[in-house]
Amino acid sequence: MSAETLEQARERLRPHVEAAQGFSGWSDMPRSREIGAPKPWDYISRAIELVSGASSVLDIGTGGGERLSRILEGYRFRAVATEEWHVNAPVANAHLRPLGVDVVWSADEQLPSKDSTFDLVLDRHSALSPRDVARVLSPGGTVLTQQLQPDHWREVRDFFARAPDQFEMWGNHFENYQRGFSDAGLALVDVRLHEGTTAYDNLADFVYMLCITPWTIPGFDPLGTDLKALLELEAKLTTPVGLALSNGSYIIEARKPG
Ligand SMILES: C[S@@+](CC[C@H](N)C(=O)[O-])C[C@H]1O[C@@H](n2cnc3c(N)ncnc32)[C@H](O)[C@@H]1O
Repeated sequence: MSAETLEQARERLRPHVEAAQGFSGWSDMPRSREIGAPKPWDYISRAIELVSGASSVLDIGTGGGERLSRILEGYRFRAVATEEWHVNAPVANAHLRPLGVDVVWSADEQLPSKDSTFDLVLDRHSALSPRDVARVLSPGGTVLTQQLQPDHWREVRDFFARAPDQFEMWGNHFENYQRGFSDAGLALVDVRLHEGTTAYDNLADFVYMLCITPWTIPGFDPLGTDLKALLELEAKLTTPVGLALSNGSYIIEARKPG
């Protein structure tokens, strides 16, 4: 079989780059699989359990509201979702408004709510301020968050020197959030870290992911100046089960004293 030319590689990736241009919300993601031991927790199931005992819920950085609408299925009570990316806020509104959820276009770390308002705060893969979360939680309330480790997809930096070091950008939030919750008077009831590996089916799917997370490689130009580096990444990271990348994550559940 003859080697693929640069032009053929560009045409192979083009449909995925074009599809990513229409991305909003946080669904229609390419398939990925965890290799090795799965996460020892299930964020959505735990959130559903906590919702069953709650009467007011805040979801920080809801994306398009896709996950919150699953979590709240069958419940009707005061719920608010924040979203700071202007493109996602209307998508979240369309998903969540029919469920009676107020969607607020606001920064993750400056919550637009009064003190002691919610007895459950959820946050999956969006930033948070532990002090602000503690402020809006009612006495006895719970915060549940799942986050990606800053060195998630760390292999990308081997091929793209300009990709920011996420530890420098965000700090060690696994440590900082635990300390922040404790300093704000919350008790840590569950803290677990998982070092995983995720496989995407092929380079084109991973390029789609890179396009929809524009903070990973600033000025990403997959069909132009970045094409050669992408093909090098593909050659190095392709395994029998797909394109494999590190994917560390953690969960923290903390409770405000009653
Ligand atoms: C990864 S999303 C997670 C959303 C949701 N909590 C979930 O679990 O599906 C976290 C945040 O990333 C931000 N975000 C998502 N796509 C973005 C984009 N293309 N550009 C800038 N920010 C984006 C949004 O502000 C969003 O709240």
